[in-house]
Amino acid sequence: MNDMTQSAFANPRVIGQRTPRVDGEYKLTGKAGYTGELHAENMLYGYPVPATIAHGELESLDLDEALAMPGVVEIFHHRNFPKLHRSPNSMGHGDQVSEVRLPFEDERIYYHGQYIALVVAETFEQARAAAYRVGARYRHAEGAVPSLLDSDAEGTLIDSAGSSRGDPESAFSGAEVQVDATYHIAAESHLQMEMHATLAEWRENGARLVVHESTQGVFYQRNAMARIFDLAQENLEVISHYIGSGFGNKLFMWPHAVATAGAARELGRPVKVVLPRQQDMTGGGNRPASRQRIRLGADREGRLSSVIHDSMTETSLVDQYIDACGSATPSFYACDNLSTSQRILPVNHGTPCPMRAPGEVSGIFALETAMDELAVELGMDPVELRLKNYAEQDPASGLPWSSKHLDECMKRAAKRFGWDQRDPGIGAMRDGDEIIGYGMATCTWFAGRQPCEARVELRADGTLFVACGTQDIGTGTYTIVAQTVAELTGVPLAQIEVKLGETSLPAGPLSGGSMATATTLPAVAAAARDALAALKEVATGSGGAFEGGEADSLSVADGAFNDGQRTVSFADVLETSRLASVNGQGSAAPGDEQNQYSFRSFGAHFVEVRYDPGISRVRVARVVSTMDIGRAINPPTARNQVEGGIVMGIGMGLFEKLDYDPRDARLVNGNVADYIVPVHADAPEIDVEMLDYPDFKFNEFGARGVGEIGLTGIAPAISNALYHATGKRHRDLPITIEALLAGQ
Ligand code: MOS
Repeated sequence: MNDMTQSAFANPRVIGQRTPRVDGEYKLTGKAGYTGELHAENMLYGYPVPATIAHGELESLDLDEALAMPGVVEIFHHRNFPKLHRSPNSMGHGDQVSEVRLPFEDERIYYHGQYIALVVAETFEQARAAAYRVGARYRHAEGAVPSLLDSDAEGTLIDSAGSSRGDPESAFSGAEVQVDATYHIAAESHLQMEMHATLAEWRENGARLVVHESTQGVFYQRNAMARIFDLAQENLEVISHYIGSGFGNKLFMWPHAVATAGAARELGRPVKVVLPRQQDMTGGGNRPASRQRIRLGADREGRLSSVIHDSMTETSLVDQYIDACGSATPSFYACDNLSTSQRILPVNHGTPCPMRAPGEVSGIFALETAMDELAVELGMDPVELRLKNYAEQDPASGLPWSSKHLDECMKRAAKRFGWDQRDPGIGAMRDGDEIIGYGMATCTWFAGRQPCEARVELRADGTLFVACGTQDIGTGTYTIVAQTVAELTGVPLAQIEVKLGETSLPAGPLSGGSMATATTLPAVAAAARDALAALKEVATGSGGAFEGGEADSLSVADGAFNDGQRTVSFADVLETSRLASVNGQGSAAPGDEQNQYSFRSFGAHFVEVRYDPGISRVRVARVVSTMDIGRAINPPTARNQVEGGIVMGIGMGLFEKLDYDPRDARLVNGNVADYIVPVHADAPEIDVEMLDYPDFKFNEFGARGVGEIGLTGIAPAISNALYHATGKRHRDLPITIEALLAGQ
């Protein structure tokens, strides 16, 4: 990183400023086309038929009645669906999928909700009505595994997901103070607003496939589909312009998309499938349940001598998904003796997948609850205990942090919250019928970057076009890309057109891992600089507006060049040279800084709960958070991510639980009536502060990423606050009313 590029965003005018979403008008007026709303000429509708058992085989299908229903064109199943190829499913080659088994491969049933057929009809209603008339007979198999929470199996140890330093076992057994506790977290649904959806259209007599998908990664889906349908990548296009969120369940393709594209090819007509919510919840990804044991050893002064974090999470019978709970633990506290281990247990569910802060959010619940237990053992303030074990450098790698202000986060949030008013006695703070509990936890999420490419076009009509094949999953990527080129060129936001979410565009990253901002903007900036350089060449070249001038002497402001005497707009420069536009290409990738520093975001959450023991009601009354995320490119949308994460954390802490019937592993509450999430009435007063320490060691924007961190640390802050209120330690999530009744 050289100083010139670093200083380019040191005093920004657009970056870091409150900027209304550039796509806001499209969303408000309904012009933003989500996959489920798109229509292709001559299009058919598909509706999957889900298995009603979780373990066994499909014995027979009875299709006669459904096939005779109005509008039904075809019903696909394991006997007539085309034979396709499995994706190699490799992250390195960008063809990762969520579930490697293809739809309708054979008669085997691995989970409730697995597709056994796809009904295709002229209208959505016809397809759905017929799907309900498909008859199926099954052979049940013994031994369905409903949930890790109902199993005492040991699972499989995944060596690559564990780590160790020092001698944690002897340090633990020799410790003056010990905490040894086991924590359980139920499986959760992403419950993103927009369901999974695919529209597949074969063109040029089946030589070319165009797919609209609500996805966090158009390139991954393209690459996987190319393998599955044996197409050259250039004959396949995946498009995702607007996405009604995806919390990780839209990172990698699911079988419904393969079923849709296969049906469209067989029928020679476009087919659209929008999963109903119930199927989205069974076959569209979940956060797997986890069991974690934490052992902490410390001396009487609260110095940690040992941290041992052993985890087990669920996977499916068809894939090996690892939700690495311990991945943040080695970097959390300064402690010489530490180990983490990870096991997975196959259960009869659809394959789990990343869900907002995957692994770490579960791991931080266990670790930060255990730290509270240690604070209670020591009679020490939980903030003081954390400061005492503060990691001044990354204890996992030994590298210095690029930028860490977690101590400031704790102190500032504590002050705004009024932590010094806390009476540490159990149940000591009351207000009428309610007992008030104060709890806190810290949080973290790694900061990563990927390679990225982008293109910028300056046009003679005064507009600027910028394109990158990443996605805006609702987080505001369109807006920050526009801000970046506005910053560098001075072209007003209203004259900037941003195009994202197409595989025909320069390769962009997954919208995942909170990496999209730090990955995309450096490439966009490089493309903008390249376009400006190209236009300067034009301006100073023969017949140009600054003919004979020095390209380097032209300064840029407000969409125009100035040579110290005259100002000429980009549009006039292009007109003078009879050009419609100039192009700039840019690419960016992480560099050697990755070997010099450790990059993470940090934060602290303080939570007030109010518990009414008379009716066993708990509510989160207040959350005060301070986050250290580097620079926020667009502060309102960054804050919005943290606030959303906090509300999601209340769901994780108190409500959300995919309930699998222990008898047969069927999902009992696979709908939004029975699966409980926080509603407005459950949302507390939320006060989020973002520190402004741009992390220029990470990238020239100083931005680390903010999509996931807000969720981490909320559930333990709630359980710690509840302990303060009631004296009952809740180690299992969600903390249901039944658990409260049992505990009080
Ligand atoms: Mo995130 S779980 O990488 O969408």
